[in-house]
Amino acid sequence: MWAPLPLCLLSALLATGSALLCEVCDSEGESCSGPLQLCAPSEGTCVKLIAAFNVGTNSFTYTAKSCLEPANCKTENFTLTYGKNITRRVNRTCCDTDGCNSGSIRVPAVSLVPNGWQCPSCYVLGAYLCKNMKPLLCTGAENQCIDIAGTLIMGNITLPKASAGCSFHSSNVLRPGVKKYAQFVVNVVTRVKVNPPTRTGGDNKKP
Ligand SMILES: *[C@@H]1O[C@H](CO)[C@@H](O)[C@H](O)[C@H]1NC(C)=O
Ligand SMILES: *[C@@H]1O[C@H](CO)[C@@H](O)[C@H](O)[C@H]1NC(C)=O
Ligand SMILES: *[C@@H]1O[C@H](CO)[C@@H](O)[C@H](O)[C@H]1NC(C)=O
Ligand SMILES: *[C@@H]1O[C@H](CO)[C@@H](O)[C@H](O)[C@H]1NC(C)=O
Repeated sequence: MWAPLPLCLLSALLATGSALLCEVCDSEGESCSGPLQLCAPSEGTCVKLIAAFNVGTNSFTYTAKSCLEPANCKTENFTLTYGKNITRRVNRTCCDTDGCNSGSIRVPAVSLVPNGWQCPSCYVLGAYLCKNMKPLLCTGAENQCIDIAGTLIMGNITLPKASAGCSFHSSNVLRPGVKKYAQFVVNVVTRVKVNPPTRTGGDNKKP
């Protein structure tokens, strides 16, 4: 037989039952850890994100974990190559149970084996216009040509950029606009074009 709980205890249980707990932190580097925090009622998902940038021998990695609105949260991975050793790699996972965004998140690996496609490429850090396109041989799963400009804000770091090259995106939804990736990470896309690549051999069959 179900014994009725005192009303105050019942409402306390319902209140804690409806609010999610997520780990919250952000930091340069390949990991971060922070306290579990109670999410706002609108934030029904926990997110964990790693973004890795490489320009020649300079590399920069940023990790963030937070609560996020479910409409903004999508588990996805995204890789872009603009030139030899000029890359951007993003992995983001979303989940909805207490503390589910703890632990590490891996930078997506990209095979360096040419896949038979090529894209126009260029890279300008701190500028919005990319000029002097050069053909780039695509590798691994990167089989789309992307031309993108905008600003990536990670905590107090702001990276304006214009770039073009080979890409792989697991969800294919890159649109101009402001997208919140996590609590301290905002991607502002001012221009984006996605085109099919061309065959390196000159035959025009599309992937
Ligand atoms: C490519 O980047 C990695 C990581 O920063 C570095 O260790 C390596 O030396 C770079 N290779 C070239 C050819 O620049
Ligand atoms: C991430 O990328 C791989 C290919 O590298 C793909 O097979 C996988 O489905 C992607 N994962 C998600 C969650 O989109
Ligand atoms: C993204 O990170 C998760 C957690 O570490 C890992 O399981 C997954 O394989 C990563 N995705 C890619 C494409 O590397
Ligand atoms: C960002 O802020 C952190 C702490 O507030 C500080 O340690 C770091 O130096 C800052 N980074 C930049 C690039 O200003």
